[in-house]
Amino acid sequence: MKPLTFSLAIVSALALTALTAAAQDKTFDAGKLPPAADKKGVTFDTDIKPIFEKSCAKCHGGEKPKSRLSLETQSGAVKGGKNGPDIVPGKADKSPLVYAVAHAGDEDDFMPPPKNKANIGPLTKEQVGLIRAWIDQGAK
Ligand code: HEC
Repeated sequence: MKPLTFSLAIVSALALTALTAAAQDKTFDAGKLPPAADKKGVTFDTDIKPIFEKSCAKCHGGEKPKSRLSLETQSGAVKGGKNGPDIVPGKADKSPLVYAVAHAGDEDDFMPPPKNKANIGPLTKEQVGLIRAWIDQGAK
């Protein structure tokens, strides 16, 4: 191996180790989230429902919502799914749902799932910011 190839191999091996370590670290990194929207008085019915209807309800609505998480109502969203609450009212930076839609946490948890059959795309930074503001303001 030439010296350059050799150092490149070392660098990639180190990078891979770092990436693997990061993937295993499930603590939330709020620095990866887009900022909360400035809007005051954000509520489920006025601000969040339209976002969830467009991008989530196909899977998280109806009789058998995925992961038993129904995002059609405020109470369903706050209640959470089969793995417990996904929203901590007042604390968006502790709410798994925010990391899922911001594509900021574990890749397996990204929502909507990348390359889903229904072809539903990711939320915009503005939409994530609004969801963040909604939860920070109590998820009412
Ligand atoms: C194409 C279908 C699909 C769409 C669209 C979708 N999800 Fe999901 N979602 C799933 C599936 C499937 C799971 C279960 C994943 C698993 O168990 O690994 C899930 C799980 C979740 C969970 C974890 C629930 C728990 O507690 O177990 C959250 C939070 C979530 N979705 C939020 C959202 C949000 C918010 C949206 C819209 C922005 C969304 N999802 C859009 C299919 C979808």
